[in-house]
Amino acid sequence: MDGEDGYFDERVAATYDAGTDEREIAETVDLLAGLGGSALEFAIGTGRVALPLAGHGVRVAGIDMSRAMVARLRAKPGGDKIDVAIGDFSTTRVDGEFDLVYLVFNTIMNLTDQQAQVACFRNAAAHLRPGGRFLIETMQPDLRRLPPGQNLVPFQDGPEVWAFDRYDVATQQMSSNYLSREAFRSIPFRYVWPSELDLMAQMAGLTPEDRWESWSREPFTHESTRHVSTWRRPA
Ligand SMILES: C[S@@+](CC[C@H](N)C(=O)[O-])C[C@H]1O[C@@H](n2cnc3c(N)ncnc32)[C@H](O)[C@@H]1O
Repeated sequence: MDGEDGYFDERVAATYDAGTDEREIAETVDLLAGLGGSALEFAIGTGRVALPLAGHGVRVAGIDMSRAMVARLRAKPGGDKIDVAIGDFSTTRVDGEFDLVYLVFNTIMNLTDQQAQVACFRNAAAHLRPGGRFLIETMQPDLRRLPPGQNLVPFQDGPEVWAFDRYDVATQQMSSNYLSREAFRSIPFRYVWPSELDLMAQMAGLTPEDRWESWSREPFTHESTRHVSTWRRPA
């Protein structure tokens, strides 16, 4: 890790928004905006989602550990109007109660042990009003693509960058690895199944509500490669 900004230092922050799929962001924001008038984004980053959500009239706040990412948010129009706390989203508290706490783009997996992921659910629940929701979007672990004896899943085949995920099925540790002619970069994750997320929600006093395979609310099936899930704090 590169210092207090973690894996999202200035080098990463500077190009972070480049690969953004605007159609996907629009779908994301449509769904989130329907879940209430106030929202807290865990891992708000450069505000890719938070800023358009605020544009829909939602009062948005955020938590992120990377000052470099948050500086990018601040520099965008409307960025100065979003309250952001610098800290770890599994433990940092902000003032107020929210209709929605959300954590997207696989970022639950950036918490690399079970204890931190459980703490994240408890922290989300602590920020919800009665009846409020916690929403997570994350990938399904790609273990079905691992034949016996293999632990790597390639996902980018050049010509500038080659990338692969490395899985350890004994520990649920994984990493995403990026190789270019100039550098090698590796980011650690802990992969997690929907069933374990449901158990973490239960431990935090939240009850399961919806699970879709996409922001357009397609049904979640055994072939889904990711999911958007919500749990509710009892009213
Ligand atoms: C993949 S980016 C997602 C940013 C934003 N949610 C988006 O969709 O564009 C991950 C973000 O999580 C932040 N992050 C990772 N681990 C964190 C932690 N334990 N506490 C706070 N922020 C964290 C990083 O600084 C980075 O901004």
